[in-house]
Amino acid sequence: MTTNWDQYVRPAIRAMAGYTPGEQPQTGGVLKLNTNENPYPPSPKALEAMRRVLDEQGAERLRRYPEPLGDRFRATAARVLGVRPGNIVIGNGSDDILTILTRTLVPEGGRVLSLEPSYLLYGTLASLQGARMEEISFATGWELPEPWPKPGANLVFLPNPNSPSGTVVGLDRIRRVLPQMGAPLVLDEAYVDFAPATGLELVREGLPVIVTRSLSKGYALAGLRFGFAVADEALVREMEKVKDSYNCDAISLAGAEAALADQEWLQETRAKVIASRDHLERGLAHLGFTVTPSEANFVWCRHPRHAARSLFDGLKAQNIFIRLMRYPGHEDGIRITVGTPEGTQRVLDTLAGLVGSAA
Ligand SMILES: Cc1ncc(COP(=O)(O)O)c(C=O)c1O
Repeated sequence: MTTNWDQYVRPAIRAMAGYTPGEQPQTGGVLKLNTNENPYPPSPKALEAMRRVLDEQGAERLRRYPEPLGDRFRATAARVLGVRPGNIVIGNGSDDILTILTRTLVPEGGRVLSLEPSYLLYGTLASLQGARMEEISFATGWELPEPWPKPGANLVFLPNPNSPSGTVVGLDRIRRVLPQMGAPLVLDEAYVDFAPATGLELVREGLPVIVTRSLSKGYALAGLRFGFAVADEALVREMEKVKDSYNCDAISLAGAEAALADQEWLQETRAKVIASRDHLERGLAHLGFTVTPSEANFVWCRHPRHAARSLFDGLKAQNIFIRLMRYPGHEDGIRITVGTPEGTQRVLDTLAGLVGSAA
């Protein structure tokens, strides 16, 4: 017997394509520069904290359910970020946080806005919610459009730094445009650990802004799946109703707390990644690429004479994975995650071979 599931699945789900994450090769020997992971191992203190959960005493912690709201993590993160524990919502990766926010703030049939080109998951979240996604182009210089062209959405998403451009929008511009938006703004700070400034002060000022953070990039813990939101306490209480009761496990809570506490590790790693980013940008420019200066841990670029697709394929043939970025209305480009100095040199040397000049 075969069941025709089309008759049961929600039409909105059947109609959508679903989000396609970057390829995750499981074989060794690949230089993986396609999903913006940190090239360095995580803080040893984070690893140690997770090991402790698995030791004998930790077995008791695994037998029991974890803290539903992650109080220990929240206390540490609040201290590090200069907010109150009640301002923080924990998530199974920041994607989980973005889902919780969409479910909390966007009604079925509602409107979600995002800048384009940016993170494609926002459109998927809108579809899942049965809402409409509308996209707005960045103004010249990757700035927020002013005046704001589409007021009154239910939610606006702005990655800051943005992906794929790696650019940031200044806080003064956000303060000016926010009243025109007439909607809560999610500042998706997945890449903020490589950027000069955060928008946390907008939350402290009581503006309708939610800052989302990830431990996948700056803290080198993409495999752990941990992210969080910083928001007004009243909104946090509503988000807590929406999230799964135990959306973060005991191991990730312990690792995330120790990672946040180890700011020294973060600063050292950030400096190394930024040095490699500068090297990558200079090397790409030298090879004739048009490079958008990045404040994140990746660089978005295109070559005037070589199609993005052929560069992507050429690198893949040599076991270097990057991301081919295609957005309607924009020329194809490639996005290269910043690696170690050796990895960065290897991708530059390989590209030099592909475009036919010395790196
Ligand atoms: C802009 C942006 N936001 C959020 C995420 C999700 O990160 P996480 O691994 O914390 O779910 C990503 C991941 O690539 C991203 O690019």
